[in-house]
Amino acid sequence: MKAYRASILSFSGLGAELEAHLEGDGLLVVGADAHNPSRQVILAAGDYNTTLSNWTRQHREALRVEDIEQLPGKILAPGFVDLHVHYPQLDVIGSPADGLLPWLENYTFAQEMKFQDFNHAASVAELFLDELTNNGVTTALTFASSHKHSVEALFKAAQKRRLRLITGLCLMDQHAPQGLQQQTDTSLDESEALIRHWHGVDRLGYAITPRFVPTSSRAQLEGAGELAKQHPSTWIQSHVSENTDEIAWVQSLHPESRSYLSVYDNFGLLRERSVYAHCIYLDDEDRALLRERKAAAALCPTSNLFLGSGHFDYARAERHGFMYGLGSDVGGGTSFSPFKTMLGAFYTAQQQNSPGGHPPQYASKAQHLWWQHTAGAAQALGLEGVIGNLKVGHEADFLILNPKATPLLARRTAQAQNTQELLFSMIVLGDDRLVERTVIS
Ligand code: GUN
Ligand code: ZN
Repeated sequence: MKAYRASILSFSGLGAELEAHLEGDGLLVVGADAHNPSRQVILAAGDYNTTLSNWTRQHREALRVEDIEQLPGKILAPGFVDLHVHYPQLDVIGSPADGLLPWLENYTFAQEMKFQDFNHAASVAELFLDELTNNGVTTALTFASSHKHSVEALFKAAQKRRLRLITGLCLMDQHAPQGLQQQTDTSLDESEALIRHWHGVDRLGYAITPRFVPTSSRAQLEGAGELAKQHPSTWIQSHVSENTDEIAWVQSLHPESRSYLSVYDNFGLLRERSVYAHCIYLDDEDRALLRERKAAAALCPTSNLFLGSGHFDYARAERHGFMYGLGSDVGGGTSFSPFKTMLGAFYTAQQQNSPGGHPPQYASKAQHLWWQHTAGAAQALGLEGVIGNLKVGHEADFLILNPKATPLLARRTAQAQNTQELLFSMIVLGDDRLVERTVIS
């Protein structure tokens, strides 16, 4: 058991009712889960004096002074959840291209090809996890490459660090270079073998991962849907409606389909625990479908801005009420830092305030931006109550933030008059220096 004394950030409510709560002098107690002692969870959280006296009353042993780490001036915050990222694209960041499809062809596929080499995969896996944790990300839903050992390398590295990580074999059996494409049957057999070996082991989860519609044959999409049905607790991840050229391509490949999103639906790939990156050019029928199927969108603002893809429509998302959260989308995205991603999300929402746009009611508020990358992203993964918040029973993945990490941060955060202002100043000025320590459950 261990306790931490600092300010504590947590969230309650949803949508317009969302509230960020900052407990100024807080106490967070973490220890083994009574029902499953191998899990480290939050045993108590709240105001320091109240939590301490409640603890003493409820447990025979009082908390000893030496068990409480004193962190004056620091903020305990939920670990960030990256809802969409590509671990084989670490070396792609900042490769400029004339939109998504040339970017894939000219840079991305070449880098992913390097994952044919197991040693390359294993070393990038370690670097990738270093980047996540240094930036305060404690859970990620990430693409691997289309090589089985790339998935295994990442699972092994995450398991060693006790990280909560979800990944899967990138399915491609057409319209991709040789060396990245697989035979349809092989890709599905390998996915199934990986599910059986890794899904639910420690804190690891498997995501069935068709890259996007153009790179999968109908047979592969059908097989992926079949796997999703047979293994309902797995996740599904893919891309949808990111770029207008991509959408036209999908339309030519699936002229019978009402929309790009409904191609996935037709193959049984829209369900709980399915997460679709981008979702920029959806129409209202698509949005209603996402909500009906309890599927989620991963918004990737730095990627959308970098590749010139377009902007997620927050106002319509709010109106339809489907689940969404934030992803870095590295290497289309430009940073592993959740602060940069939240800032990109804010720019996206602000841009919709222009004449003719439909301004979002709450998505651009600091607390909501932060929620989209923590509790909101956890909800999108079907892990609400498990991760993404600092409340009793949640897994103890959290950050120790130092708002005085740089002279500028120190000056600016000291002048914040309330929690909203404090969160905003950290979103705008924050980076990995703000994350003093990442504590993994
Ligand atoms: N669509 C298909 N593959 C990709 C990818 O790797 N990145 C992004 N941003 N979009 C994609
Ligand atoms: Zn992506």
